[in-house]
Amino acid sequence: MLIAITGASGIDLAVKLLENLHENGIQLELIISKLAQQVIKIESNYEKSYIENLADKMYDVEDLTAEPSSGSYLIDTMIIIPCSMKTLAAIANGYAENLIARAADVMIKENRRLLLAVRESPFSAIHLENMLKLARLGVIIAPPIPSYYYNPKSIEDLNNHIVGRMLDQLGIKSDIKRWGNI
Ligand SMILES: Cc1cc2nc3c(=O)[nH]c(=O)nc-3n(C[C@H](O)[C@H](O)[C@H](O)COP(=O)(O)O)c2cc1C
Repeated sequence: MLIAITGASGIDLAVKLLENLHENGIQLELIISKLAQQVIKIESNYEKSYIENLADKMYDVEDLTAEPSSGSYLIDTMIIIPCSMKTLAAIANGYAENLIARAADVMIKENRRLLLAVRESPFSAIHLENMLKLARLGVIIAPPIPSYYYNPKSIEDLNNHIVGRMLDQLGIKSDIKRWGNI
């Protein structure tokens, strides 16, 4: 599974997702954008090295010769979390300017699973049109929007639930509180 972290807000969600997938024994490949490296420093308490160590393989975001650039390299699922509006725009327009956009481009052309945890607020018409275009191609648009029906008590509760709902998309079990069983 390929995970990409871009320079939108919500680095903790990416780390929590990586931790969960790692604990589930899933082979993880990881790309971190240049801006994400800045945002990790600005808004999280994580060292980049801790995040990298959760993955089995790392790629340089500028290395367009790396394996995920080619459809012949088999990746069943790619998740971009958080996904910036810039990366969303690049993907929606087939502008494969870096390894994240190129790998996503490959996922779409090969009809493979691509999930985007898009993060911005409010969304402009440009953002929404880009999302609609990709949703129509089968890309899963999964913004990290919290749920409140289970009466969360902390930010950690909210983050755990958001990540649990993303794991649902991947068919991976988690112990989040579910409607009908609260
Ligand atoms: C602290 C911080 C938070 C940001 N949050 C967002 C965000 O939530 N959504 C977004 O689209 N861009 C956000 N940006 C702007 C992106 O980082 C910027 O558009 C960048 O070019 C994205 O590049 P990338 O997609 O290659 O990582 C943020 C920037 C900073 C410094």
